[in-house]
Amino acid sequence: MNINLQKKSAAQAAVNYIDEGMIVGLGTGSTANYFIEALSKKIKAANWHLTCVTTSTKSRQLAESLGIHVVSIDDVNHIDVTVDGVDEFDPQLNGIKGGGVALLFEKIVALSSNKNIWIVDTSKKSDKLGSFLLPVEIIPFGSVQLFTKLSQMNLKPQFRVDNQNQKVLTDSKNYIIDVDISHVSDIHKLADTLKSLTGIVEHGLFLDLCHTVIIGGEHIEKIDR
Ligand code: 5RP
Repeated sequence: MNINLQKKSAAQAAVNYIDEGMIVGLGTGSTANYFIEALSKKIKAANWHLTCVTTSTKSRQLAESLGIHVVSIDDVNHIDVTVDGVDEFDPQLNGIKGGGVALLFEKIVALSSNKNIWIVDTSKKSDKLGSFLLPVEIIPFGSVQLFTKLSQMNLKPQFRVDNQNQKVLTDSKNYIIDVDISHVSDIHKLADTLKSLTGIVEHGLFLDLCHTVIIGGEHIEKIDR
């Protein structure tokens, strides 16, 4: 089964975790988009009243265009379940996110959610995190100083740029630096170190946050933590 069909079938399977009246977090990326589309169809078919919060401007725009009721994260007191994609995940269900630039809002929403579900295709599965470059969101002021620091830490940083070679801006108008963590053995220690550096807003290591991964395919695979 091709990658897009796998993403679609994982997204469809995730709709089974949603019920009438829930507050649902909507992730960002191509797989999360399939979920938003599948959810909007279910809401219409079942005549549900759902409240959703989104993890990016793109997801909000898509959800609203499909008639989904979206509110600000600050207008809810909890989130029942968030369904999102991931760039890479390991057997402990730790993951790297932020390939789609939305890691900061995605992490805030995940931390406020009672349950986090990642919907994936088979290419996202990994024995050890680090095949995918780790996105790190940093404020523009002093970003070159921070870049130098990350180089000295042997993390081979690269500013994320668009096809006009302009630095990519997040929804919060920050930059993304992608770093190579393929040689790092202790990801929890790295996560703490990155959090301690002034100028780093957030990193894309999502550790101990995901409860269930749904891998799409002819046979849906579900892994619980
Ligand atoms: C966005 C993300 C996405 O969830 C991640 O990049 C996966 O994207 P896709 O579903 O398109 O493969 O973290 O910041």
